[in-house]
Amino acid sequence: MSAELGFPEDFLFGTATSATQVEGHCEDTDWSAFAREPGRVRGGATPRIACDHVHRFREDVKLQQALGLGAHRLSLEWARVEPRAGEFDPAAWDHYRAVLGAHRDAGIVPMITVHHFSLPRWLSARGGLLHQDLPALLARFAERAVEALGDLCTLWITINEPNVLAAHGHLLGVWPPGHHSLLEMGRALRNLLRAHEAMFRAMHDAAARKGHALQAGVAHHLRVLEPEAPGRAADRVWTALYGRVFNDWFTQAVCAQQTQDFFGLNYYTRDLVRFSPAHPGEGFMVRKVQPGAEVNDLGWEIYPEGLGRLLDVWAPRAGVPVYITENGIDDADDDQRPRFLVRHLAEVARAIRRGIDVRGYLHWSLMDNFEWAEGYAARFGLVEVDYATQERRPRPSAALYGRIARARAIDR
Ligand code: NOJ
Repeated sequence: MSAELGFPEDFLFGTATSATQVEGHCEDTDWSAFAREPGRVRGGATPRIACDHVHRFREDVKLQQALGLGAHRLSLEWARVEPRAGEFDPAAWDHYRAVLGAHRDAGIVPMITVHHFSLPRWLSARGGLLHQDLPALLARFAERAVEALGDLCTLWITINEPNVLAAHGHLLGVWPPGHHSLLEMGRALRNLLRAHEAMFRAMHDAAARKGHALQAGVAHHLRVLEPEAPGRAADRVWTALYGRVFNDWFTQAVCAQQTQDFFGLNYYTRDLVRFSPAHPGEGFMVRKVQPGAEVNDLGWEIYPEGLGRLLDVWAPRAGVPVYITENGIDDADDDQRPRFLVRHLAEVARAIRRGIDVRGYLHWSLMDNFEWAEGYAARFGLVEVDYATQERRPRPSAALYGRIARARAIDR
């Protein structure tokens, strides 16, 4: 017997991308420089062309519309709009206005991420996330963005996954600037928290001045963390500590300070944590996967229940509506994605039934794209991209998602 799990009338079903990962044609970011260093990105890939979205956005928006998806999260390339410190390029704002205009014409609700990982090189050359003026610089960028685009977009993210950004760049050393320092990671995260607060205020002030409606939040990256061996005290203690630093610190601060109008949640996986003094460069731990668990092409555990668990913990702490700002899977042949989608959407529907106010689900990603240090090897797209021709080919899961979105229900 099949039972239906439904979603509210105004629930947003959509997709997510970020500028550096899809746009191409911006050589002024820390990522374009980092990717050119040998050994940094798998296969020597760079974001030079990516999905050529900067030229193909109209076609890509039509694709979203054809799939029946009513929302899309995109980000601004900071280096494109502010190529030199304090100099904003009117042509770049015009470009993003055209992108948002295409969404409006297609009836797609946009959500803009102001900062999604990449930095302009004028800033990375001067310390990047550690620069003492980062909060003021990001606040100015965010304020200008609301002034330039606020009539076309109500939902905004200040910063994407601050914990992941600080950890990958400053502790694990796999993203720019490629450092290995716990202390630096802490400083970067604290600076990002100050930046978020400054951005949140600057954006609301700008919106109020201009008479625009605006809601802003963070795309928090949260993982389910469990000790590898619950009987081993060191694993238990380290799991708790890692959880405090990685999952809780930034997110709890934002909840306590009430500097978010909604709670954005990026959810992917669960980690089993094993304390390991032999791995200082990885935070004195090894992260593992539940033995026998199903994993995606990058080896991440597929654990849909984790989404429900995190919603139960964080929605009451946040006290504001929730958007799933990302959730997705690296699955080149699309044999896991359909079930992945259904199971995660079912978790969202059940959470709504339990009374949690989830307003939307944005799948990562609309299309295959530049997956940072993994280059083009990872395939997160509902739509396959042939990088030789830039042809887009919707995978079967894209049609399935479209059917769910149209029906506003999962038929299980
Ligand atoms: C989260 C990040 O925001 C996004 O940039 C990335 O591609 C996905 N996770 C998949 O790893």
